[in-house]
Amino acid sequence: MADSAEIESSLQAGTTKCDTTSNGRSDVEKIAVEAPTEETDLNKDLSPETANANSQNERKGEAKIKAQYLLVDYKPSIVSEYVPQETKDAMKRLLEQNDLHKGKQESKLTEVASEPPPQHIGCVTDEDVITLRPEEKKKINFSDKLYLAPLTTVGNLPFRRICKTFGADVTCSEMAVATSVLQGKSEWALLKRHKSEDIFGIQLCGSHFEPMTRCAQLIQETCDVDFIDINCGCPIELIFQKGEGCALMGRSSRLGQIVRGMKSVLEVPLTLKMRTGISDSKNLAHTLIPKLRNWGVDLVTVHGRSREQRYTKLADWDYIRRCSLAGTTMPVFGNGDVYSFEDANHFKSLSGVSGLMVARGALIKPWIFTEIKEQRHWDISSSERMDILRQFVNNGFEHWGSDHQGVETTRRFLLEWLSFLHRYIPVGILERVPQKINERPPYYFARDELETLMASSNCGDWIKISEMLLGPVPDNFVFLPKHKANAYK
Ligand SMILES: Cc1cc2nc3c(=O)[nH]c(=O)nc-3n(C[C@H](O)[C@H](O)[C@H](O)COP(=O)(O)O)c2cc1C
Repeated sequence: MADSAEIESSLQAGTTKCDTTSNGRSDVEKIAVEAPTEETDLNKDLSPETANANSQNERKGEAKIKAQYLLVDYKPSIVSEYVPQETKDAMKRLLEQNDLHKGKQESKLTEVASEPPPQHIGCVTDEDVITLRPEEKKKINFSDKLYLAPLTTVGNLPFRRICKTFGADVTCSEMAVATSVLQGKSEWALLKRHKSEDIFGIQLCGSHFEPMTRCAQLIQETCDVDFIDINCGCPIELIFQKGEGCALMGRSSRLGQIVRGMKSVLEVPLTLKMRTGISDSKNLAHTLIPKLRNWGVDLVTVHGRSREQRYTKLADWDYIRRCSLAGTTMPVFGNGDVYSFEDANHFKSLSGVSGLMVARGALIKPWIFTEIKEQRHWDISSSERMDILRQFVNNGFEHWGSDHQGVETTRRFLLEWLSFLHRYIPVGILERVPQKINERPPYYFARDELETLMASSNCGDWIKISEMLLGPVPDNFVFLPKHKANAYK
């Protein structure tokens, strides 16, 4: 979490005046000392008492306007218990202090988002124009990194910690909907980072530049984050119908508004994840990539399937190569079907991407990062796999609590994860190595009882594993995995 003093001082910095024709930091500081503020100017011929009363009245008037600034949708009454007190305080302070500049901020957002870029003349507050110069902004060297994909539900903090121990370099939060974050909903629980996550991003989903920009700004000011990612790949109908996720791929001018708006407030890198396109017959990613590069996006990840395709076919790494070439100076990561170090080597050399993102491969075998880094197959035993689950449970207790509710939340997320984990086939019993991600074996007996239990696709067996770690399930326990039509009651 950002230190509250830091947030406050950055807010105060927003009241400095400057000459808008100059954009350099030192100029701003110089002008801030020399130029009188508007308020002092207006009050300069009045007695100190009258001037003071005037400025207080002005502040009261401005305070009324404040109420909707920045967190337009922020309603304190619905800030859930998931939002840490520290964050609530920071949101409140932002609400109270920043509102003085509501009008200017809003007009700024509109300007930034529309073509051509704004030309400022004369004096305005420095927060309108003084952003960090590109060379001053934080940079991340993404080259050759292994990126654990954002994964709704299953890519929770306890799981990401496991992947970090096995060598994932970059991690990302589950997708958070920008408007829900601004409303202080439970989405805030998704934004938490563990200290082991040394390159950590937050993925945002939205279809309008204003909430996306405000949300990016709020997250940067209140959360501990290294980059922010725009979700342009989510295929879910509900999201798509709202013009969010993958739908943004078909609306490049709207996407441009969002990217430029977010870039204008961010000091951390802005990344974006997308698919090949919306329909199978029309690839779009290669046409968007040069635009994204020009708008200042720092990294694009291409999942080599269209929205229409979902997981029915293999990812198209030939097309990812085309996207990688289109990126030129901007790094492009490839994503789709990486399930062994051989896959990683093959896809990387075929496509020339800067790095790889792994999703289901990490859910089915989180040690895949070690396999890729050490260029080997790991014939992991069932007891070693049980230790990983035990570690997850401990991480879960730390994250969700170890009271009854914490235990049951941990169980639910463990079960969600087990709905992927059972697909792992031990290297030692494979006829040929490596297993491919789309290969599903018939029911088989493994090398010991636990290994056989872990291979079961029966939801009742996942419950048994959860009971070995967490004790018996409560009466009337029901479990319906989010990502699979498979239920237990
Ligand atoms: C359970 C699950 C949840 C996912 N959630 C997200 C998400 O929140 N954001 C996102 O951009 N992609 C999400 N994806 C897509 C993956 O990040 C990835 O692009 C896709 O699974 C292809 O990679 P893979 O072949 O390595 O699995 C999700 C995928 C799965 C299986």
